[in-house]
Amino acid sequence: MVKEMLKRYSESIDKEIGATLSTIDPSTLCEASDHLIKAGGKKLRPALVVLSSEAVGGRNEDALKTAASMELIHTFSLIHDDIMDKDEMRRGKPSVHMIWGEPMAILAGDTLFSKAFETVLETDTKNVDPKRVVEALKTVVDSCIKICEGQALDISFEGKLEVKEEEYMTMIYKKTAALIAAATKAGAIIGGGTDEQIEALSEYGRLIGLAFQIQDDYLDVVSDEEDLGKPVGSDIVEGKMTLMVVHALANASSEDKERLISILNANDESLVDNAIGIFNKYGSIEYTRNIALDNVKTAKELLEVLDDSEAKESLKLVADFVLERTH
Ligand code: IPE
Ligand code: IPE
Ligand code: MG
Ligand code: MG
Ligand code: MG
Repeated sequence: MVKEMLKRYSESIDKEIGATLSTIDPSTLCEASDHLIKAGGKKLRPALVVLSSEAVGGRNEDALKTAASMELIHTFSLIHDDIMDKDEMRRGKPSVHMIWGEPMAILAGDTLFSKAFETVLETDTKNVDPKRVVEALKTVVDSCIKICEGQALDISFEGKLEVKEEEYMTMIYKKTAALIAAATKAGAIIGGGTDEQIEALSEYGRLIGLAFQIQDDYLDVVSDEEDLGKPVGSDIVEGKMTLMVVHALANASSEDKERLISILNANDESLVDNAIGIFNKYGSIEYTRNIALDNVKTAKELLEVLDDSEAKESLKLVADFVLERTH
């Protein structure tokens, strides 16, 4: 149901993005920039922009530029993330740097990043107050700064074994939830929302964004590569801090703690199952799931400040989908 809904928005977003990317020159940069867009993601963030705009009474068409801009920022962050995480697959295809090399992949990311701002600025100000376009742009800009800060924290936590739960939550807020919150906030701004509506939708986005990353970390240990479209076990191989690791390290016996630390430092795919064994032994998977469920529940409650609408109901379904998804 949610998947079909996301697909419905996907077509108009692809059209917007296709038009802006077709002008990139030289053709190698154009192809490298378009590669993941063509591979196609879930389009969660653009759908959230349009739904949030609709939920405050905005017109669908007016939110499309901002929606496309969110997918451009997201795709830029994935291209650079796969370089940082040394991941060779994305959206079921080889990562951009695997085909074009790291220098061209960095440029492809930079191009999408720049195109995102251009796209917001193309919002038709006959229908949307220019002040709201500036506010939406500010929201996009702020989320990009947060993504960089979050990714920097993510890298600095590798191999650091005393990361607290609060520090992990700040890291995932910045690297992932900030962009999802920007999508719902910018949608509400463009749609003409009141301050109260904008604030509620922004907080809804932040909470489902945190749950989204917790689920992403979970899928990295339990899913299979074909379903996920990206490598599994990659976080453990790379020694990434996830909430499961934070919880297990805080609760395990000193022997199991030592074992988990050695797995995280080993750079060895065959040890992923051993790590899962430790997570299960200390209830770390259940613990993280409950935190994610709590966030989703609170997020849905926040939507009650909005008038009833189809978009509001869809936003509730999207909140549940974040934890139901298998890829
Ligand atoms: C993956 O995001 C990156 C994270 C923030 C965890 P998605 O799971 O939304 O990726 P696509 O767009 O569907 O490929
Ligand atoms: C996603 O974190 C953060 C960004 C892309 C900004 P991950 O590194 O966990 O994302 P995946 O699992 O590679 O999609
Ligand atoms: Mg990654
Ligand atoms: Mg990463
Ligand atoms: Mg991940």
